[in-house]
Amino acid sequence: MLTQISKDWERTHNCGELNENHAGKNVTLLGWVAKHRDHGQLIFIDLRDQFGLTQIVIDPTKTPEIHKKVAALRSESAIGVCGSVRKRPGDMANKDKKTGAIEVLVDNFILFNSAAVLPFPINETTEASEALRLEYRYLDLRRDSIKQKLLARSRITSFVRQELEALGFYDLETPFLYKSTPEGAREFLVPSRVNPNKFYALPQSPQLFKQLFMISGFDRYYQIVRCFRDEDLRADRQPEFTQIDCEMSFINQEIILNTFETMIRNVTNRFLEKEIIGKFPRMTFTDAMEIYGCDKPDTRFELKLKDLSELSRKSDFKVFQEALGQGGIVNAIIVKNKSENFSRKKIDDLTLLVKDHHLKGLAWIKIEKEESSLVWNSPISKFFNDALKKEINRELALEENDIIFLASGPYEKVKAGLSAIRNKIGKDLDLYDKNQFNFLWVTDFPLFEKDEETGRLLARHHPFCMPRNEDLSLLDSAPEKVRADAYDLVCNGFEIGGGSIRNHSPEFQEKIFGLIGLDKKQAHDKFGFLLEALKFGAPPHGGIAFGLDRFVMILTGSEAIRDVIAFPKTQKATCLLTGAPSFVKDETLEELCIKKIEKES
Ligand code: AMO
Repeated sequence: MLTQISKDWERTHNCGELNENHAGKNVTLLGWVAKHRDHGQLIFIDLRDQFGLTQIVIDPTKTPEIHKKVAALRSESAIGVCGSVRKRPGDMANKDKKTGAIEVLVDNFILFNSAAVLPFPINETTEASEALRLEYRYLDLRRDSIKQKLLARSRITSFVRQELEALGFYDLETPFLYKSTPEGAREFLVPSRVNPNKFYALPQSPQLFKQLFMISGFDRYYQIVRCFRDEDLRADRQPEFTQIDCEMSFINQEIILNTFETMIRNVTNRFLEKEIIGKFPRMTFTDAMEIYGCDKPDTRFELKLKDLSELSRKSDFKVFQEALGQGGIVNAIIVKNKSENFSRKKIDDLTLLVKDHHLKGLAWIKIEKEESSLVWNSPISKFFNDALKKEINRELALEENDIIFLASGPYEKVKAGLSAIRNKIGKDLDLYDKNQFNFLWVTDFPLFEKDEETGRLLARHHPFCMPRNEDLSLLDSAPEKVRADAYDLVCNGFEIGGGSIRNHSPEFQEKIFGLIGLDKKQAHDKFGFLLEALKFGAPPHGGIAFGLDRFVMILTGSEAIRDVIAFPKTQKATCLLTGAPSFVKDETLEELCIKKIEKES
């Protein structure tokens, strides 16, 4: 017979709510066998559901039949029990557990479904590989720590909706089957059966639809929406991820930053259940690059980059001279009073890290004391005369036991390399409080960036951003110097949101398309619908999108966004649980006018 939840087996309580006040009550609990202990005669089971664990006891002198059945139970089987709640004897109470003061003495039992042999034990200390846990994600999700993250995600999402709706935003939906309009990353294409040889693209974001909403006269739009990007994956990137996507009309940058700062602060405070977030500081893109070497600095710790280009010019070190001669820079990071933490091996590891960022190497200087003066212990010491060393010591306020790392080369590469070791050193030396949340607005992003290979201009955020008024005169003469009304919200070294004021003039939008290499025809083929719409009284508008997964990852103190996504993809964009992506039948491909090409994977 199939076991179902008959009237008699409807639960009276969940597994996380019973306490001393329930002593003497008859209850029905339903859940999974988390732990099973046979103590001589008595069997103890920790019964688990979403809400917690309750200890149940089976006494063979009272219920010999149930005792026999339960003795053979496998872990993680789904069961139900009826019984009476009793207080545990004083020394048996477990104060660390919500239900630790009581247990339930069983007088009725039902097995709903037995569990097969588990691929890995379901506990917090499991050593199972991530691959195995992803293959059996539904079992992994039975673990409380990971379940709590998804429940936290749900709470955060709900707070976001409440806050945005209180601010007058309406949830409006946009299509998933979209037109191919690459914004930066590669798109996922979907063949259209009824339109042979034509493809939809899954949206990288609802960018243009939300702009169309503003043109349609909606004042404040939001959507918690899935976005799709076929890009290389990292700990904070998934091919499908969720944005809190927002747009407002008749606004300026100041209104946008203040509105969303309120939303993010309120959500954070509500989630953390304390008022920890004050006003978010702001920093321009140029300053962020100069001081921290990246546009998403972790401001929980110092380790700021120092420019040493001018002083290095006076040294005899060829590597620095060459870099400076080619218009590059020399920058340094000073780690105060910690030189003993940097063994040769550690320095070699940091060197490998900067090489990953295309720098040739990493120079270092350990500051030591001989008699009463500071001396350099460094492979590059010989290229600096005593006077220059003294000048550098003074300029950088160096002291005994400091260690300095120096890198030279093109501006972007030096900044990227040193920023990477800054983050690594910050983490390795525990330089920040993990429970701190440092939000930062980064503003004044450049409108364009140069493609390294082709030298062509690309839109840095996307091509719909408004250039700053004061930089308009540079659009033709020095477009790479033009700043946009574009901003990012950064938290603890992660970009959690980005947006801009948009172009609402069709002429201007066309000009920007031209600057990124789209001629009139190409611009109209790709974005004709936008250019057309902008002609009909498009209001000044702008917005932002937050990465919900990243925001939840940070608020829950998780290492990767995979931890806060129920069914994430692997680094190779596969789903180990379902086996996606998978091959499809030749007939299906034929119907879609698609021909297979053999390719080694
Ligand atoms: P952007 O491309 O900056 O802007 O994306 C907004 C935010 O989405 C998150 N994010 C991601 N999260 C996980 N995996 C990914 N692959 C991924 N890519 C981006 C980041 C990022 O800050 N349409 C514009 C927004 C606008 O201009 O209003 C956009 O999509 O947290």
